[in-house]
Amino acid sequence: MKPIYMDHHATTPMDPEVLDAMMPFLTSDFGNPSSSTHIYGRQARVAVENAREQIAALIGAERSDEIILTSGATESDNLALKGLAFRQTAGKGHFITIATEHKAILDTAEFLKKQGFEVTYARIDSYGVVDLDDLRQQIRKDTLLITIQAANSEIGTLQPIADIARIAHENGIVFHSDAVQALGRMAVDVVKDGIDLLSISAHKIYGPKGVGALYVKKGIRLQPLLHGGGHEHGMRSGTLNVPGIVGLGKAAEIAGRDLATESQRQLQLRERLRHGIESRIELVRLNGHPQQRLVNNLNYSFSFVEGESLMLACRDVALSSGSACTSASLQSSYVLRAIGVAETLAHSSIRFGLGKSNTAAEVDHLLDLLQKQVKRLREMSPLYDMAQEGVDLENYAWSPHDHHNH
Ligand SMILES: Cc1ncc(COP(=O)(O)O)c(C=O)c1O
Repeated sequence: MKPIYMDHHATTPMDPEVLDAMMPFLTSDFGNPSSSTHIYGRQARVAVENAREQIAALIGAERSDEIILTSGATESDNLALKGLAFRQTAGKGHFITIATEHKAILDTAEFLKKQGFEVTYARIDSYGVVDLDDLRQQIRKDTLLITIQAANSEIGTLQPIADIARIAHENGIVFHSDAVQALGRMAVDVVKDGIDLLSISAHKIYGPKGVGALYVKKGIRLQPLLHGGGHEHGMRSGTLNVPGIVGLGKAAEIAGRDLATESQRQLQLRERLRHGIESRIELVRLNGHPQQRLVNNLNYSFSFVEGESLMLACRDVALSSGSACTSASLQSSYVLRAIGVAETLAHSSIRFGLGKSNTAAEVDHLLDLLQKQVKRLREMSPLYDMAQEGVDLENYAWSPHDHHNH
């Protein structure tokens, strides 16, 4: 039997409606949208422009030509940061971000540093929320861009993006937000929220992999990363991935259509899981903000249990742990470390990513499994034994008396 899928931050299964919409463009309607001299090309062009409108509608963009189609959010994030950086003719400039961004932002920022740009990281609290006063303090005369995500993919924490946008604009700074995890889970409106640049990925909203978009507010100029045939108004050359784009458009339409019902349903499932974990398992710690978090995310540290072992023990549910297998070593999540979670507790953490397919019965099944397996693994832990005997093991267990710094 295939495991129950509960890792929707990593990717989502493609919606059958999306596949249906894409199918003709993988078969009979194979035209190149740049070839407008015949019906094949024109059909493809109409499909792409329709998708652009569907994407614009999901994020409240006023014009569909503000949507630049890309190969995914990694490219969109790169285009936002490098595109702005490389437009600077008069000297370099300064970027502000936070330490819990996706690597597509962090690694791009580090790359820009090597090119002579400066990057500073605004303070975040122990839930991962940006400190707005510190953000204001970081602003300099040469600050080009503030880039802060709408929602975190590991701990689900939401950022006050409308406030951040206001601060950016008061200082004449462009604001970019990676909204990959937020889209389809909460309302995001580039006009109301004041977002200038916004990254989108299709495969996180039940669309295909390898396609995404960058919203670029009218009037903002970026240096393209790919040069060639001048597609996307010269912003991103390369023959358009028509089936993928049609899939992204359909996925965006469905995300908007189902947002109210699906986000409410997933919120109820999340609360059922949260309540179950906290009432049935002792010595657990919720990572991320208790309220300001994605409707489909929970992230818990289970003291005295290794996340990887717990995941293996619960193998009929596909989950993700707070450790990343990089080469030979098991590194704990940089996001958890950035919010001050002790190394041992970071290694004890599991991320739960709910999605459309999940049901209350699946949550209940997972709860039974977790309760049983956490107990079994703790019984094998000498440290847990010591803790039971009263030995103080700071950093292994989190007690409800620990306080967050605010
Ligand atoms: C917040 C965030 N940004 C960017 C990405 C990268 O998206 P893509 O897989 O479309 O390149 C991801 C996916 O892992 C993500 O979660």
